[in-house]
Amino acid sequence: MMVRARARAQINIALVKYWGKRDTSLNLPEAGSLSLTLDGLGTTTTVVFDDDAPRDTLTINEEAQQGSALTKATRVLDALRERAGLRSHATITSHNSVPTSAGLASSASGLAALTQAAAVAAGLNLSREALSATARLGSGSACRSLFGGFAEWSPGKHADGHDSHAHELFGPDHWDLHVLVAILARGPKSISSTEGMEHTRRTSPFHAGFIATVSQDLQEAKAAIAARDLMSLAPVAERSCLRMHADMLAADPPLCYLQPASWAIIHRVQTLRKEGVQAFFSADAGPNVKVFCTPEEVPMLHAELEAMPGVKEIIICRPGHGAEVLDPIP
Ligand code: DP6
Repeated sequence: MMVRARARAQINIALVKYWGKRDTSLNLPEAGSLSLTLDGLGTTTTVVFDDDAPRDTLTINEEAQQGSALTKATRVLDALRERAGLRSHATITSHNSVPTSAGLASSASGLAALTQAAAVAAGLNLSREALSATARLGSGSACRSLFGGFAEWSPGKHADGHDSHAHELFGPDHWDLHVLVAILARGPKSISSTEGMEHTRRTSPFHAGFIATVSQDLQEAKAAIAARDLMSLAPVAERSCLRMHADMLAADPPLCYLQPASWAIIHRVQTLRKEGVQAFFSADAGPNVKVFCTPEEVPMLHAELEAMPGVKEIIICRPGHGAEVLDPIP
């Protein structure tokens, strides 16, 4: 027997950051987080369950994957196989329109697309919340990419993690926030988020302080998003980002994902906002910087970023939709 399905999911950028797990095997976070799913940057994945396949395989952009990428995919597949009573192995073929492992959340869109495609191929009709909890097993941030627009990941209370999934706060049409993604480096990062996060949790004396700030940030971010108030969202998102980076920098040995060119953009955006420009920055486990802004500010910010040293490319994104099934072909 052979069944296949194809799905697409897009990356999400956290406005209130996830950095720290209470359970590493189930990717259960210590605190909540909140993100915006972006359009145009994501992953399309085909999953084929085949009784004759000797093992699970994964290719991303035509390259066969081993190690952690395959392990993450297998965790999702195992959970779905168990639910569906399925024993066959899967052949997973993924294409990223986002640079792989460059701090641009390709694992979030990848694991979200895989979960959606594999669930359909396995004949499961799961709620988006159940898909989100399953995608979380592969990569924590992937649970937010099941949803479009603004999504919040509730950490949950249960040890098995069934209540640790994302939900939609506001759909992509709620607020036409634009994001300019300034690409400073395309190669894979030297230390993955998974490793960096656990290293930080274990060794940073600032970690408990970072975690303690999250619930206040979530509350303020949600109010600012509900009111479509960029100037109120800006300080919350920037401090969540910088506190996460401060936490990483305080690890032993320290983790420093941001480059001088990243800091130059951060400073420029802060200066521009003081001058009244509706924009703020965010950055994750890599050097690339994302600049959130109103649509009116896009041309000016694009010109500003283009002139900054080290900027290789600028990708302009808008709020995007959640994971979607493309063709559940038998
Ligand atoms: C900095 O979701 O990639 O992007 O759960 O180990 O797969 P794992 O980590 P991952 O971490 C993302 C961290 C971040 C912040 C965020 O997206 O909230």
